[in-house]
Amino acid sequence: MNFIFWTRKFWSDIGYWLGSSRFLVARVVSLADIESANTIVELGAGYGPVTDYLIRHKSPNTKLIVIENNAKCIIELRRKYGQYCDIHEISAAHIGQILPLGSVDIIISTLPLGSISPEWVDHILRATEVSLRTWGRFIQYQYALQNLRDVRRYFDVTHIAFELRNFWPAFIYQANKK
Ligand SMILES: C[S@@+](CC[C@H](N)C(=O)[O-])C[C@H]1O[C@@H](n2cnc3c(N)ncnc32)[C@H](O)[C@@H]1O
Repeated sequence: MNFIFWTRKFWSDIGYWLGSSRFLVARVVSLADIESANTIVELGAGYGPVTDYLIRHKSPNTKLIVIENNAKCIIELRRKYGQYCDIHEISAAHIGQILPLGSVDIIISTLPLGSISPEWVDHILRATEVSLRTWGRFIQYQYALQNLRDVRRYFDVTHIAFELRNFWPAFIYQANKK
């Protein structure tokens, strides 16, 4: 019953069946190496599984900035996590409006790049790249490798992990600003 409720809710609100599993979330965050970060940005927070994990595992001094463009998710994110991080209802393509150039240590994206138009993927990756500091880290997951080439245009992809314990299993790109 609970499962059916949540899958229907996810599908109608954000076009996905389920949020990321705790295994995928832990893997994504471990590849980001958050211990010494001053600023972390999360793109596409949904209902917050990654946000929740980051809040529980980041250092108290690390600033977390959360980006989501779905109004329903924003209401829920602000209710649950508003006191622990900065939450912005904007498109990831426009993060340049709120982040100074080269100011971010780590950007973690669970955006569905595969279902975003190539033009917008390009805007998003460019905005991500310019927001990161030199050698800053970018993490992105995907169920297939369809945007790997796009990510490589902007970043040096150092490792591709695969997490089976998720519906669907996912590849995770670990990349650095060139
Ligand atoms: C695959 S869901 C991931 C949700 C959650 N982070 C998780 O891991 O379960 C992708 C999220 O990205 C958001 N999204 C899609 N395009 C976006 C954009 N251009 N800017 C900001 N958020 C976007 C969707 O609303 C959705 O909540």
